[in-house]
Amino acid sequence: MKPKVYVTRELPERGLKIIKERFDAEVWPEYGPPPKQVIIEKARNVDALVTLLSDKIDKEVFDAAPNLKIVSQMAVGYDNINVEEATKRGIYVTNTPGVLTETTADFAWALLMAVARRVVEADRYVREGKWKVGWHPMMLLGRDVYGATIGIIGAGRIGSAVARRAKGFNMKILYYDVVRNPRMEEETGAKFVDVDTLLKESDFISIHVPLTKETYHMINAEKLKLVKKTAYIINTARGPIIDERALYEALKEGRIAGAALDVFEQEPISMDNPLLKLDNVVFAPHIASASYETRSKMAEMVAENLVAFFEGRIPPNLVNPDVVKVRNPVKML
Ligand code: GLV
Repeated sequence: MKPKVYVTRELPERGLKIIKERFDAEVWPEYGPPPKQVIIEKARNVDALVTLLSDKIDKEVFDAAPNLKIVSQMAVGYDNINVEEATKRGIYVTNTPGVLTETTADFAWALLMAVARRVVEADRYVREGKWKVGWHPMMLLGRDVYGATIGIIGAGRIGSAVARRAKGFNMKILYYDVVRNPRMEEETGAKFVDVDTLLKESDFISIHVPLTKETYHMINAEKLKLVKKTAYIINTARGPIIDERALYEALKEGRIAGAALDVFEQEPISMDNPLLKLDNVVFAPHIASASYETRSKMAEMVAENLVAFFEGRIPPNLVNPDVVKVRNPVKML
């Protein structure tokens, strides 16, 4: 009997095809996420779940799922999954790292350029018929990116890829992480500093850490006081790393120059969110990895992780390696 898999959304064909061929798969058919209750119901008799970062996979789901052996997530981040609880129960958790690195760094760069040079404001200005004077020395002035200082918080794969782009722009690169990244230092000339120095000295601050208990609200009201009045914050990691209320206050009071955000404390953002009233913020709906190529590769990796596990192999992108002490991969294919 083929292993049973519940897939919480239509995935790009490259991955879904493999899953449908090799597994007894059911796919949630709607564009929006399945309600939690549906995930719980479906989890009851499956061997595997394929999840997205918007699905909360917690103790309640695991309690309902006696046969669940693996959660294969289509994302590099997996803060939506209670990994500790999964590990205790012998449930493998996998993600899709690596393939989205350059795509995500490209998008962080797109946001950085957009907010620095007011690209989105300029687009609105033209469309709304505000462009009445052909050229004006003071029209829509922004800040130079080339030669400025960038502070990269989080020097993993994506942070390093952002540093490489910054090098091409002749930027001074500062970075902070819990561990140093000598390779990134060597490749890009990035200088390791503490968070406070990074916040004080950077013209652009780009966030690339995962969301954990330690990084939750790591950019809060107190930290924002250190940021230069002319600096911008770019977040393509996870919304709750920044205290959004404090960010709003700092932006509204002109204590920092602007922000470009792909991620939010609540997604989708509520239309009441006061940030939406500010012109110096560029918004995107959590799409940093959204290229055709990358999303296809991510879906393929989701399938590969499942296939490996059910062929009795350790999945290539296992995030909880301690789980092997509780259960070996299960050969069912
Ligand atoms: C997207 O946010 C991801 O974690 O892949």
